[in-house]
Amino acid sequence: MALSVEAVLKHSSDLQQARSLGDLMRVTGAAVKALTRYRVAWVAWFDDDGKHVRIPAMTGAHASWESTPVIPRSADAMLEEIATGGHPVVVTDARIDPRTNKEQVARFGNRTLVNIPIILGGRVHGALGTGSFGDEGVVEPTTEELEALVVFGSQLAPAFDRVKALEAQERAEKQNRDLQGHLESLQRVELMGVLAAGVAHDLNNLLAVVLMSLDSIDRSKLGDDADALADATKAIDRMRDVAQQLLQLGRRESGPRATVDLVQKVATTIELVKPSLPPAVTVVQQHEGTPSVDGDAVQLEQALANLVINARDAVGVQGRITLQVDEAVLDPVSASKVRGGRAGRFARVRVSDDGPGIPLALQERVFDPLYTTKPTGTGLGLAVVSRIVEQHHGFLSVDSSPDAGTCFSMYLPAT
Ligand SMILES: Nc1ncnc2c1ncn2[C@@H]1O[C@H](COP(=O)(O)OP(=O)(O)OP(=O)(O)O)[C@@H](O)[C@H]1O
Ligand SMILES: [Mg+2]
Repeated sequence: MALSVEAVLKHSSDLQQARSLGDLMRVTGAAVKALTRYRVAWVAWFDDDGKHVRIPAMTGAHASWESTPVIPRSADAMLEEIATGGHPVVVTDARIDPRTNKEQVARFGNRTLVNIPIILGGRVHGALGTGSFGDEGVVEPTTEELEALVVFGSQLAPAFDRVKALEAQERAEKQNRDLQGHLESLQRVELMGVLAAGVAHDLNNLLAVVLMSLDSIDRSKLGDDADALADATKAIDRMRDVAQQLLQLGRRESGPRATVDLVQKVATTIELVKPSLPPAVTVVQQHEGTPSVDGDAVQLEQALANLVINARDAVGVQGRITLQVDEAVLDPVSASKVRGGRAGRFARVRVSDDGPGIPLALQERVFDPLYTTKPTGTGLGLAVVSRIVEQHHGFLSVDSSPDAGTCFSMYLPAT
């Protein structure tokens, strides 16, 4: 088919609509196929350093600059000639032509190679390539075919520049959005911290009054009720711990650091939560080794309690909650598969339940402060857990599926 004005205009408008490297490759590939006898087209793009060439995937819809192999120009006399000559280079038979890289030729099965320089502002930016392969044999381009290819090549240069700029802009916008989301979530935590600190401050003072009043009761007159009083005092002590926690959430600091035995912490947490569990909910504790971490014991208990209470809410009246403590050594590859993960040796606590699971789309949102699906939830539980884990230089991940339930894993740097 001969090159018509319509074909040139159509190609030009198709190129205008391209938004990615993949689009450009598809548009150009289709135009070459329609107007020549060649089936495949590609673009070799010269790097600004004048030494390297990128050849984006020929037809890939996902072609991108980053995923493109970069090869040195000097290894290929043909590419060098295009880059410096600025005129079309036709290699009739790549198998015998001295200018071709024979390793590439053997790999791709090239026969005839047609290269059209892509020139913008007097500089050769790359080359539109096409040609025949293997059994197709030698297919020398006719004058018409060569003309069509030169026109396509001249249209490609500005389109490539535009797509590159678009891709850079989209990358920058995405980065901006990610940052904005992170900032908003930080601001909410900050705000809640200030609110929490205010409430906690008053609560702390009131609890001190209650404790003093309880202390002033004469225990010798209580008889059997002395136990009840002891329980109440213990609970209030615990409430003061919690209030203290809230204060710290506002202050962004944590309490004293000590070596915390996680197996023992998990056992204490279970004891604490057990009274609020329905009778048909079982809690199992498993551990491998006795990993310990350098941390704030009260905070870690608070984090664990939050996870166990969430598991309790998830299983409902009947189910199973498992707490596992072990040590996990992550290499860079396994770390990249864990939310927020990095390589290292960690003490790990996993809290799993056989509840309904969390839909994939919501698995990131559950960590947002104020996100809750419970009628009386605050949506602060997991935000607090995240904060505590971060303060311990660890990370918190979630695995969940509808049939297997949910597992939250705390990774804390092992001592
Ligand atoms: N183990 C779990 N199984 C299923 N969904 C969960 C689980 N843990 C958390 N979620 C979901 O994440 C949401 C947020 O949890 P988060 O602990 O932050 O707040 P909350 O439990 O709703 O409120 P609060 O902790 O104040 O009681 C929950 O409302 C729930 O939808
Ligand atoms: Mg919760």
